[in-house]
Amino acid sequence: MTEDSTTSETLENLLTEDRRFPPGADFVTQANAHAELYPWAAADPAGFWADQARELLTWQQPFTEVLDWSNPPVARWFADGTLNACYNAVDRHVEAGHGDRVAIHFEGEPGDTRTLTYADLQREVSRAANALTALGVQTGDRVAIYLPMIPEAVVALLACARIGAPHSVVFGGFSAEALHTRIEDADAKLVITADGGYRRGAPSALKPAVDDALAKGPTDVAHVLVVRRTGQDVAWTEGRDVWWHDAVDNASDQHTPVWVEAEHPLFILYTSGTTGKPKGIFHTTGGYLAQCAYSHLNVFDLKPETDVYWCTADVGWVTGHSYIVYGPLTNGATQVMYEGTPDTPGRDRWWEIVEKYRVSILYTAPTAIRTCMKWGEEFPAAHDLSSLRVLGSVGEPINPEAWMWYRRVIGGDRTPIVDTWWQTETGAIMISPLPGVTTLKPGSAQTPLPGIAADVVDDEGHPVPNGGGGYLVLTKPWPAMLRGIWGDLERFKDTYWSRFSGIYFAGDGAKKDEDGDIWLLGRVDDVMNVSGHRLSTTEIESALVSHPSVAEAAVVGATDETTGQAVVAFVILRGGNEEVEGTVAELRAHVAKEIGPIAKPRKILVVQELPKTRSGKIMRRLLRDVAEHRAVGDATTLADASVMDLIAQGIDKPA
Ligand code: WT7
Repeated sequence: MTEDSTTSETLENLLTEDRRFPPGADFVTQANAHAELYPWAAADPAGFWADQARELLTWQQPFTEVLDWSNPPVARWFADGTLNACYNAVDRHVEAGHGDRVAIHFEGEPGDTRTLTYADLQREVSRAANALTALGVQTGDRVAIYLPMIPEAVVALLACARIGAPHSVVFGGFSAEALHTRIEDADAKLVITADGGYRRGAPSALKPAVDDALAKGPTDVAHVLVVRRTGQDVAWTEGRDVWWHDAVDNASDQHTPVWVEAEHPLFILYTSGTTGKPKGIFHTTGGYLAQCAYSHLNVFDLKPETDVYWCTADVGWVTGHSYIVYGPLTNGATQVMYEGTPDTPGRDRWWEIVEKYRVSILYTAPTAIRTCMKWGEEFPAAHDLSSLRVLGSVGEPINPEAWMWYRRVIGGDRTPIVDTWWQTETGAIMISPLPGVTTLKPGSAQTPLPGIAADVVDDEGHPVPNGGGGYLVLTKPWPAMLRGIWGDLERFKDTYWSRFSGIYFAGDGAKKDEDGDIWLLGRVDDVMNVSGHRLSTTEIESALVSHPSVAEAAVVGATDETTGQAVVAFVILRGGNEEVEGTVAELRAHVAKEIGPIAKPRKILVVQELPKTRSGKIMRRLLRDVAEHRAVGDATTLADASVMDLIAQGIDKPA
């Protein structure tokens, strides 16, 4: 079968998938969510959120103000209240008599396991908080975290929250260069890392990237706290580097949380935008925590006493922040944390974990589901998955075919699937079905959560009628919304609030179907989504042109069956730099070094010219046509129309 016929068949499947899944009667009876939430929240959104914040969180000083939107686009929620995020995630569960409940079932890639109860977690976060303080970290100081998926990652985030030191987690797959810019931008005072972690059956080093990052230029980093995970050799800078097991294990396990104002910054998390420089999205404490807890409880129908929840994300992404650390722990959940890859040692590793811990709620990404589809049904079929009762999806639109497979093969034709739309910026889930309430439509995120106001608008910002398409916007402030881009208020306003006046522009295309349900259609800006990870075309182009042999580069995201999109780059080499054996491999490695392996182009095409308009703008649309093996669209605005023929001839060369 040719690739083309596969694509058109797939497309047909998508268009003809009209099965609907109303909630089962048994599920409805026991569901946390109920239909009355919608009218209640719509009638008085602020009052609704205030109720959620009071009910789901423990406040040191109760708030009396709910929303202050007097200085848009910077919102203030629950501003006169004080609380501590770590206390809410840990201590209060111990105080309520749940100290023996398992918080984390940790499963290391090599097969080692650890169990941490809420009481264990309280001791660990207290020790770590004392250690951070002893190393000079004060309330308000920023701490960079560069760790594998091990329990210390959760402990590190919570210890920062405990002393009111905003954390800035950098995904372990990012390069030293990327780590350096993030440490510098946030003026981090301390870095928490590990010697390495396990990936695909082998130790993979992390500490050298921290050493390289700090060698790239002066920073405010006084100490590097190093967890020993793999036991591999590490270079050591005396006076700066400190072992976690020396500093933390020997610290007192008694610690009083620092009560902070609701608007105290909780964390910064960098994400790619349309320009080269990553944006430090920052979130504050009270509103963020309230919406994380609320959404986690209702969207996943969590029953803390009986469920075993597992989110397969990495803590390096916002999904890990909100739905491994803050949401589930604030709700007192028991969860699984897995360090490694889904196919180590075998392609059934995930399903083995589901069976072993009797996982009841699974939250993962469409790219992972499609990978499992490719591997075959025999891997999940070899395990008892009957404990599963809710499945979640996040990161990119889930194609109905993958949705149906997820439901049938993983969910035993039984479980609801919640397709959750949100972003690093929104902090928590915004659009999603509610299990037990919503009749599910494969491929659609469907409905804004109670308390959330979203719409689809046209170019002028007018809501489109049902059946119409346009841009996804959020029309009212929400508790977990970003409070800005770290150190750059103007960029915050420009990026999100200038496209349509007074409303938040998400950067996604969407349509409303005949029932008014929302279908996400992917980014409308120069942001790609590769395996649910956001990458900026401009950032990869800058990385490519920083290589001495590259004169010009254009990057596009081409549709990919497994990863959603794949990075395809078109480069013009410098005069005299003829394409030689190895150039392309060298450029791919260069991008990995500059940004991280996730940004490595799938394909690099060396070209003589790039398609540009008369004003010099690269027409990426045409390059995308080439990269997706389509007939090239309207090229009449090109300065030189023959350019596309040459480029199209080159695409099928192996690279
Ligand atoms: C972008 C945000 C939210 C955590 C993971 C990604 C896309 C996310 C969905 C979904 C369609 C989705 C959007 C969004 N996206 N979830 N359920 N359906 N698209 O966070 O890196 O901030 O990326 O991911 O394009 O804008 P992120």
